[in-house]
Amino acid sequence: MRKLHKPIAIAENENHRFIWLGLDEADLEKGILTNQYLVVDNDEAMLIDPGGYFVFERLYKAVSEIIDPSRVRAIFYSHQDPDVVGSINLLEGFFPNARIYVSELWIRFLPHLGTLSADISGIPDEGVDIELGGSRLRAIPAHFLHSPGNFTLYDEATGVLFSGDIGAAVYPGNEWYLFVEDFQRHIKYMEGFHKRYLCCRKALQQWLKSLEGLDINVVAPQHGAIFVGDKAAMFLEWLRSLDRIGVDYLYPG
Ligand SMILES: [Fe+2]
Ligand SMILES: [Fe+2]
Repeated sequence: MRKLHKPIAIAENENHRFIWLGLDEADLEKGILTNQYLVVDNDEAMLIDPGGYFVFERLYKAVSEIIDPSRVRAIFYSHQDPDVVGSINLLEGFFPNARIYVSELWIRFLPHLGTLSADISGIPDEGVDIELGGSRLRAIPAHFLHSPGNFTLYDEATGVLFSGDIGAAVYPGNEWYLFVEDFQRHIKYMEGFHKRYLCCRKALQQWLKSLEGLDINVVAPQHGAIFVGDKAAMFLEWLRSLDRIGVDYLYPG
């Protein structure tokens, strides 16, 4: 069964929108589901983790209905995985004025996807601020969660935290929902990923520490469902409680 879900602004204020870019339920059969996001501030936009080849057609159509693709000024890659960067060859042609932001660790690997002329800016380990229109987004280090060069992105204008693979959920069968409602039930869709893919408690605790002081209203992951308001707080609290993950899970003792 094929059902198309239209883009939704998950947070917005006067001249600024943080938009989830929709979903084609046919994607359920192709690989892990991914969320793509577009941040629009005045007449400039930023794409976040645009994804692989098979989502590109839907993504481009969705973006084109929101803003002139030539106004996409930035593309943010949380890390180097195929579900994040797989469409890089297409992006270059379809979003000609976009600068790609990715951990400087991964720049030398991207040409293996065939792209040599894109405008790529390496994010240093400590992170970087990215200006968009009249707003600012902060690339916050989340190294080893799961990639060694890994960033999350905080949108100061809305308090949305794009968390990349942190918060990833894998739904069973054909189940899917966009917003977390029953947090306890949602945990069992997240547990497996967090146990095996995230590196270790130390890296996770360090990232959580770096979020202190931020006003986080929404946590938006690259896979699975979005956490709004009290669900965002519950999610961060759940992460704080995770103990045996990554190397500690695989090699106890
Ligand atoms: Fe990943
Ligand atoms: Fe991912």
